Amino acid sequence: MNMLVVGGGAREHAICDAVYRSKNTTLYSVMKNKNPGIARLSKDFLLEKETNVESVIEYAKEKQVELAIIGPEAPLEVGIVNEMQKKGIPVCSPTREAARIETDKEWMRSILKKYNIPGQLKCETFTDVGKAKNFIEELNGEIAVKPIGLTGGKGVKVSDDHFKGINEASRYVEEVIQNRIGGHAKVLIEEKAVGEEFTLQAFSDGETILPLPAVQDHKRLLPDDKGPNTGGMGSYSCNDGLLPFLSKSEYEEATGILQKIIEALRREGCTYIGPIYGQFMLTVDGPKVIEINARFGDPEAMNVLPLLESDFVEICQAMIDGILNSKKLRLKKQSTVCKYVVPEGYGVKSMVGEKIYVDEEKIKNTGAKLFYASVNKENDYVTTTSSRSLAIVGIAKELYDAEKTCEKALQYVKGEHIFIRHDIGTKKLVEKRVEHMKKLHGMITI
Ligand code: AMP
Ligand code: GLY
Repeated sequence: MNMLVVGGGAREHAICDAVYRSKNTTLYSVMKNKNPGIARLSKDFLLEKETNVESVIEYAKEKQVELAIIGPEAPLEVGIVNEMQKKGIPVCSPTREAARIETDKEWMRSILKKYNIPGQLKCETFTDVGKAKNFIEELNGEIAVKPIGLTGGKGVKVSDDHFKGINEASRYVEEVIQNRIGGHAKVLIEEKAVGEEFTLQAFSDGETILPLPAVQDHKRLLPDDKGPNTGGMGSYSCNDGLLPFLSKSEYEEATGILQKIIEALRREGCTYIGPIYGQFMLTVDGPKVIEINARFGDPEAMNVLPLLESDFVEICQAMIDGILNSKKLRLKKQSTVCKYVVPEGYGVKSMVGEKIYVDEEKIKNTGAKLFYASVNKENDYVTTTSSRSLAIVGIAKELYDAEKTCEKALQYVKGEHIFIRHDIGTKKLVEKRVEHMKKLHGMITI
């Protein structure tokens, strides 16, 4: 089977690694930057912008690709899956219409409303600053402000984290509308959900979903969740598939929500095939939907894909064939801690072209996994670009052992101008999350 993976980040390196482990599969890839990890695993690769649909399809045809998966959201938004399907290339990723669940936040909220799906938040969209202000006042300034289109996870601002009070909230709303942040002169305002965030990813064939272990990502740049939001600085998961603050029934509530979204999309006439990603806030009233993504998460893919014992390519095929209900996921019962190595200044102004020395052999010996992201390979080192550089994933039975493995491996990544959130997956930070939830529950019973 010839399989094509589109995308060149660490998430796609993890996807390629899962494809590579699959029996009887030859891997081809398309990426904008030459990811050294993906390049090594691929029989052949094309360096091309992932949204350049024609070139991707031409390459897929030339390599007689029989199955494709799309890593990032940008090619989904321009309809790469629709075009590939027209050319007879099977793809286990959603069409442009189904991917709207990620690319159009307003539509996502309207689907939840229309199908009465649990986990909703009060929300409204505005093109008029004055009308928006009434709604902001109604919610007492406790809101999240979201540009409508894609902003790479960086356009969203939340009260107390990024602004305080009704006036500052109104000012950001005005900025989004006037500067068309996200591509539209429109803004989505949501009630702020208070709790702990978690990610739930699942495979979908349009009818059945197979959920994966829950993961907690860390979007904020600096230790102790300070600083600006980023694409994600690292993440962890636990051997039971839950999180230290997330119970089985809460996990099941979240899978129920994803299942209902899949059913709703089917009824809307845009059957969703591919990995789906739910970002939830666990509140005292259960999980609330923060966003839905039409792909694996980055970094969250790196927590779950290395645990897969089932044949990944078989699952991809089953998504296309609509037979996930006949499959059962086999996963290693292990915990994972993923930490990203990013260039100094990342999230503000990255230091580009800085050297990073990666001792792959020593990293391998620790038992950790290495996934390259956006770097350029030079002789015996790689250099930074403006994006995240590489990720290390520690894997062990117990969470804190996985964290230790991750740190051990990180010793073999050396650079003068790199930055890592070392607190991810540490007992101190994880326990803070547990305490936070306990405190919120306590406040309710008082
Ligand atoms: P998004 O790009 O929608 O994932 O938003 C980025 C981050 O902002 C999320 O990971 C949350 O931490 C936070 N956020 C978004 N929406 C809300 C909300 N309604 N309530 C609280 N926090 C939110
Ligand atoms: N981890 C956030 C995302 O993939 O969007």
